[in-house]
Amino acid sequence: MDNAIIKALVIDDYTDDVDLLRESFSKVGASDFRFTHVERLDEALPLLDIGDFDVIILELDLQDSAEITGLHQIIARAPDLPIVVLTRIDDDAVAMNAMQAGAQDYLVKGQVAGEALVRSIRYAVERHRVQSLQLRAAQEEELGRVIALIGAKGGTGTTTVVSNIAAALARENKQVTILELRSDYGTLALQLNRAPDYNLSHLLRVSADGLLERNELEARLFSLPYGPRVVFGPQTADEFMEIEPEQANIVIRALQEISDYTIIDLPCNLSAATQLAIRLSDYVGVVLQPEPYCVKAGKVRIDQFRAWDVSLDIIGAVVVSIGASYSEVELTEIEARLDCRIVGVIPPAAEACAAAMELGVPLVLHQPEQIAAVTLAEMSQRLAAEEIEPIRL
Ligand SMILES: Nc1ncnc2c1ncn2[C@@H]1O[C@H](COP(=O)(O)OP(=O)(O)O)[C@@H](O)[C@H]1O
Ligand SMILES: [Mg+2]
Repeated sequence: MDNAIIKALVIDDYTDDVDLLRESFSKVGASDFRFTHVERLDEALPLLDIGDFDVIILELDLQDSAEITGLHQIIARAPDLPIVVLTRIDDDAVAMNAMQAGAQDYLVKGQVAGEALVRSIRYAVERHRVQSLQLRAAQEEELGRVIALIGAKGGTGTTTVVSNIAAALARENKQVTILELRSDYGTLALQLNRAPDYNLSHLLRVSADGLLERNELEARLFSLPYGPRVVFGPQTADEFMEIEPEQANIVIRALQEISDYTIIDLPCNLSAATQLAIRLSDYVGVVLQPEPYCVKAGKVRIDQFRAWDVSLDIIGAVVVSIGASYSEVELTEIEARLDCRIVGVIPPAAEACAAAMELGVPLVLHQPEQIAAVTLAEMSQRLAAEEIEPIRL
């Protein structure tokens, strides 16, 4: 509704009634209403395709349509428009049918007039607007959660964390999709010992026209035997490509529609596509090792997110001890330096990780009792929650 002008299409062949209607509006000074009047349904229907109306005011007793057949035709043509029936037909059964068919209100001429008529039509428009907003909010709520993991720098265990979180959540019967969102070689296929027929480069090709149909998407997902589906990163040099943010948007939104959780494995270099993915994420885990350089790199990364206006509430640190010979920074010190809470602390498990990788199975499935596997599974639970609780140190 531009400038709060309410554009009404009146479909009524009792022209005297239409004059009365206009009079009611002008009498109460409802100057925000603009009326377009047609007498027949076959004049109205084409107008619905071109005119941007906010409400339809419909007499059911028309020459070219009787009772609620016209109403059905209008709803089929303009399902998002509120329709107020204003009619000479004073019949409860017809009224009930009309309301059940989707009319916003049923007003009998003569019974409602003047100010009350104006108010009823205004309320119907408003009620419809609120219902549409609620419907949209409900649809948004149905979208799955997006959790992004990004390394403070390369080789911090990000991809390992991603594949384990996905496996742990799938074990809880959640629909999980992993998206390895990168322009160049994705190592996840290697880590899971898979040779996918399709990867991100193919998805970006089919969505080049700005659309990604659900069946096109699902046909290109790789299904792991233990549940999660995967969009692997590019696998060969000729598949490497820049990812436009709009492309990333299409893919992530499409995955959200079919997944309870979309887990994104992000590369360390910051691109416009990575920025977009972070903006779309419900939570971002920065994966780092507890050593000074890595903590510093993590701090710079978090500063970058904050410069993008990403709320600190949705950023957490995932500390992975690879077990190298560095001087470890204490967890409380990490939180203080990052100015960010820790959501997971994964102990060293080089041998267990190597053994799992050898078989192409995430550690949480290969050795569920192993201490790193237990902490990975616990962290998955934490990340799955609507309100993510950081670790108490
Ligand atoms: N908790 C851990 N302890 C020891 N090694 C680990 C641990 N987690 C991951 N790794 C190993 O670290 C290496 C890098 O892991 P990867 O997940 O590929 O990191 P990134 O995605 O950040 O580059 C792999 O060899 C992996 O097996
Ligand atoms: Mg990786």
